[in-house]
Amino acid sequence: MKSPTERVTRIAHISDLHIHAAGRHGARASRVVEYLRRRAEHLAGVVITGDLTQDGLDREYEALAEVLDPLSGVLPVFVCPGNHDDRGLIRRMLLNQPGDGPVNQVARVGELTVLLCDAVVPGSSRGELGAATLEWLAEALRGYRGPTVVAFHQPPLALGISNLDGSRLADSQALADALADHPQVVGILCGHVHTAIRTEFAGIPLIMAPSTAYAWKLPLDRADPDHGVTEPLVVLHEFWDDRLFTYFQPCPDYKMEQF
Ligand SMILES: [Fe+2]
Ligand SMILES: [Fe+2]
Repeated sequence: MKSPTERVTRIAHISDLHIHAAGRHGARASRVVEYLRRRAEHLAGVVITGDLTQDGLDREYEALAEVLDPLSGVLPVFVCPGNHDDRGLIRRMLLNQPGDGPVNQVARVGELTVLLCDAVVPGSSRGELGAATLEWLAEALRGYRGPTVVAFHQPPLALGISNLDGSRLADSQALADALADHPQVVGILCGHVHTAIRTEFAGIPLIMAPSTAYAWKLPLDRADPDHGVTEPLVVLHEFWDDRLFTYFQPCPDYKMEQF
């Protein structure tokens, strides 16, 4: 058994930046990025689980690139597309890749392999991995037997949040089938729900990162349909002793007037 004082992999997990071209939400995301930059020596990488931009526009991806620029050459950043994104622009402007097919990527992050999957259905808010991505995932899981995390945007189950449950991952049973008999998967990372939630799917910890932009309220407060505004949370996944330890904490030093 490894202790935290030996080899430990730490991944920062942020989501749903919803960057507008005019800069809206950029200051909040930048504050998180700056915090991670200052703590980079303790981190192996950053995973962003989608909705990078508000409307999937090229000028929004330019604004996003500026927000993430402090991490350039400092920390590797890995992204999944979300329903507000344009996968072709993510390929061209963030990944320097041609085409507009699903953005499925394998990332080696410290001791972990992160399988970043594209659950976007163009023109729709609902999630669906689809046959090609599910086959890609199955093949990747056959190929990487070390500790693995799977990441995509829309969670694969209903959460009781009426305006989000309809857009959950449609092919969740096929995902569960693909994950079966792969005990190397130590966690599933999602976004989309703008709330920090931890549950399980197919017997695997499922962790949904909150949005850096705005928050859905707790179930206690859902009689009020408005979005809440909280400090952006930083989610930290530590991997050691063959499991993830997930921490949720408000971004240090954040001042609420930055919204
Ligand atoms: Fe979102
Ligand atoms: Fe979303």
